Amino acid sequence: MKIQFLSPNLNKKDIQEAVKVLKSGWITYGPVTEKFEEIFAGYVGSKKAVFNSSGTAALHVALLVAGVGPGDEVITTPLSYVATSNVILYVGATPVFVDVDAKMGLIDLNKIKGAITSKTKAVIPVHLYGQMVDMKKLKKICGAKIKIIEDSAHAIESERDGIKPGQLSFASCFSFHAAKNITSGEGGAVTVNDDKLAHELKLLCEGGVERTSTGRFMTLLGYKYSATTFQAAMLISQMKRINSDWKKRKILWERYKKGLTGVAGVSFPEQVPNSRHGYNMFVIWVEPTRRDILREKLGQAGIQTSIHFNPIHLEPHYKKSFGYKKGDFPVTEKLGFSSITLPLHQKLTKENQDYIVDKIKELLEV
Ligand SMILES: Cc1ncc(COP(=O)(O)O)c(C=O)c1O
Repeated sequence: MKIQFLSPNLNKKDIQEAVKVLKSGWITYGPVTEKFEEIFAGYVGSKKAVFNSSGTAALHVALLVAGVGPGDEVITTPLSYVATSNVILYVGATPVFVDVDAKMGLIDLNKIKGAITSKTKAVIPVHLYGQMVDMKKLKKICGAKIKIIEDSAHAIESERDGIKPGQLSFASCFSFHAAKNITSGEGGAVTVNDDKLAHELKLLCEGGVERTSTGRFMTLLGYKYSATTFQAAMLISQMKRINSDWKKRKILWERYKKGLTGVAGVSFPEQVPNSRHGYNMFVIWVEPTRRDILREKLGQAGIQTSIHFNPIHLEPHYKKSFGYKKGDFPVTEKLGFSSITLPLHQKLTKENQDYIVDKIKELLEV
């Protein structure tokens, strides 16, 4: 059996919609892009969405409109994709890592207070694997002065205590990379609840060039973070089935959970009560000394897996720039070095999942 880790969730109709736009002759920014922005904002319950080239770009422009710059500190988690903290460096600010909790891998809210200084300008919580950080609690901790910019790359369909990403924060950033629940290959969006901010975000993604009735003027230093109309068309098509696709992912996710519960040597993140999981990833934790061998053997058995995530502070660039070392964020290190991400996509069959579960059990028994 050969089981791919990734299989982008694109069907014939999504591709037809993209081709229709490609044939129309209007392939950059246009009405289809705006339509997607409207649909997406409506889905996540925010006023405005700005569609752009990636989740990384979304985080970058969100920090810029939040006014974060040199001399500022931004608190975030070291258990994420490097983009989460790289964007803090892009704007010349300093990332301040706070370790995660051991049960879910989410930034430990009990430790955030201790990391706040007079320089703290923002916090970037990451809704890891599809589970949201407690936004009500985080909002209380941050008060009015510290802005929250959510990294919602894994959390398009998520909710916690009735709150969706973007509803309690300054901005929420999404990704439509191939591994996300809806995808345009690459792509991202920022959602906000303020028209002026949305306008500024759009400008930042369009080179800072404003189109007015009298001409085009560059009013601020922007970036070329635009997305294309054919990407928007693919995403509109996927938005039509987002809830039924989510239900399918839930079934797959629950099947893994059932199959792996109680297996010696395997654990996985606890589910947040009173919440709706985004089911973006199914991650298992195994003894770090056995992790790489297990992955290799799964690979030999035809099962592709991945790692989410290697601790950011131990990436060579971060070690070199900030002097981080092993032991600085022990919970992140424990979880990061224990983690194996299993395939979770619409093409996965029950037989595939039974095979994966059986192989894990068999390999861990030895
Ligand atoms: C948690 C997280 N944040 C941010 C990003 C960046 O998104 P993108 O790849 O669209 O730039 C990703 C992943 O791809 C991610 O997993």
